[in-house]
Amino acid sequence: MATPKNKPSCIARAASVSDAPLEDRYMLLIEAVQDYAIFMLDAGGNIASWNPGAQRIKGYTHDEIIGRHFSTFYTEEDIAAGKPARELQIAAAEGHVEDEGWRVRRDGSRFWANVTISAVRDANGALLGFAKVTRDMTDRMRLTELERASEVSAQVQITRENEQKRIARELHDDLGQQLTALKMSVALIEATLAQKDDTAHLVPQTHALQKEIDAMAMSLRRIAADLRPPLLDDLGLTAALEWLAEDFTKRYRVAATVHVEADEPQFNEFASTTLFRIVQEALTNVARHAAASHVRIELARDGATVSLEIEDNGVGAKPGLPSGNKSFGLLGIRERVRQLHGTVSYISSPGAGFRMSIRVPIADVR
Ligand SMILES: Nc1ncnc2c1ncn2[C@@H]1O[C@H](COP(=O)(O)OP(=O)(O)O)[C@@H](O)[C@H]1O
Ligand SMILES: [Mg+2]
Repeated sequence: MATPKNKPSCIARAASVSDAPLEDRYMLLIEAVQDYAIFMLDAGGNIASWNPGAQRIKGYTHDEIIGRHFSTFYTEEDIAAGKPARELQIAAAEGHVEDEGWRVRRDGSRFWANVTISAVRDANGALLGFAKVTRDMTDRMRLTELERASEVSAQVQITRENEQKRIARELHDDLGQQLTALKMSVALIEATLAQKDDTAHLVPQTHALQKEIDAMAMSLRRIAADLRPPLLDDLGLTAALEWLAEDFTKRYRVAATVHVEADEPQFNEFASTTLFRIVQEALTNVARHAAASHVRIELARDGATVSLEIEDNGVGAKPGLPSGNKSFGLLGIRERVRQLHGTVSYISSPGAGFRMSIRVPIADVR
């Protein structure tokens, strides 16, 4: 701690804290406080004392600030609105005023402050000045903002999943049924055409038409499944992961295996969707970056924790992941894990494959 210049000299004479006069002990206490700016104002609002906490938070040294008006710490808008004077008025009238808002440091940067101003009076009630305690709440405010942003993003994801589910169902139930009906009609026409000699030559064309309808139905099923894997809602996470692995193997010719512990917990819808999307994103990375021949997905329970591991035997990643401002995959995974109050780590080195380990509290997924 930097020793302030105008430290009361009487303290130096006492052998220990308990030997010092009461007044000096309070002085020592205030000098020791680093997290709060604690200082006195005279009745006009000019700064009369300063502690190391005040120097740390606001950036002024003792000598720079003593005698200056405390409105120095307020923003231009607050000064224009007469806030400093009003706060002193309230403190004088009520004994005390508390406020939270932006304040300005010596270097002009702003911090979010929690401020308490208390009137100090003598035995006869005459106003001597004010005691002011300021705390820098910027970190806590950022944290609250981050939490709010995370909540909003979780809500956006839920809305998106619901919308995708609706579209997938619509595609499957409506368009899918129409395609089935269309195929039956064409098959009927084909049967009729085949019965007469003068129309039999049209049969190959109707046959080709049926093939096209089959291809359309397959595309439709694939698009619907990409939007929302049907198994996830009907049979749960394990079944959906097995379907995903099978589909991945077919599409990319990379063997994907799923290992799930026998007593898989009953995941709630948000958790199973979140874990499914994480595996989907991780597999996309395997297809895109790993050049692997095998990827292993493991879901297990370890006491109060659920662990999810995705490990491939590919080329691995360069150290220092994730980098690049266009890489949203790992960032998205991190955010999803955060929403389940879990942790994620990556182990990888060039040539040694890539392994992602996720741990989430079981209480957040049931
Ligand atoms: N399974 C993997 N094998 C090798 N490298 C990977 C793997 N997964 C991710 N990476 C590396 O991490 C980077 C960041 O991944 P990601 O955030 O998903 O972004 P993107 O896939 O868009 O590049 C990738 O560009 C890649 O270099
Ligand atoms: Mg990616």
